[in-house]
Amino acid sequence: KSIVILVSGRGSNMQAIVDAAIPGARIAAVISNRPDASGLAFAAERGIETAVVDHKAYADRATFDQALAGCIDGYRPDLVVLAGFMRVLTDDFVRRYEGRLINIHPSLLPSFPGLHTHRRALEAGVRVHGATVHFVTATLDCGPIIVQAVVPVLPGDDEARLAARVLAQEHRIYPQAVRWFVDGRLSVDGQGRVHLAGEG
Ligand code: GRF
Repeated sequence: KSIVILVSGRGSNMQAIVDAAIPGARIAAVISNRPDASGLAFAAERGIETAVVDHKAYADRATFDQALAGCIDGYRPDLVVLAGFMRVLTDDFVRRYEGRLINIHPSLLPSFPGLHTHRRALEAGVRVHGATVHFVTATLDCGPIIVQAVVPVLPGDDEARLAARVLAQEHRIYPQAVRWFVDGRLSVDGQGRVHLAGEG
């Protein structure tokens, strides 16, 4: 299966997926909307093709998304993986990749969609927090949940400590979800519920 990974920054989740060396998965390209994303250097070092579609070069979301889709489609991916990709995508874009576009979000969705999830979790006083891999649908940080990881919120936690604890789990569950997809085990039913073949 051919995979395109979209990043905006350091791309540690992308690195975890690359390093997982998933049998049957070929990382066709890593694409960034920011020319300075440090994740691009990692990908290039690994001999993975990289591309930049700079959102600043486009007048609006729709034209940016069209350019991005054009770039992605050049690699004919079976799966598009958002890994710290920090742009909100248009409905048209999301529809184009329906069922083969996944994202990781640093909270236990449906709690804390959007930004600053670790700060908000601390403010809310939750005792557990975590990360979610989900299929992308038109509503931001919604969409059928594929896998979640839970971490405790510990006394003395600050945003950075909590973020690091969650990130370690992200690096475990995102490659796992990609492996399930590549193995053809993931599907979504009419109710938007995810089924994992071979699970219980
Ligand atoms: C991760 O916490 C991811 O869940 C969130 O942004 C962060 C990106 O980190 N969407 P990285 O670029 O994968 O290192």
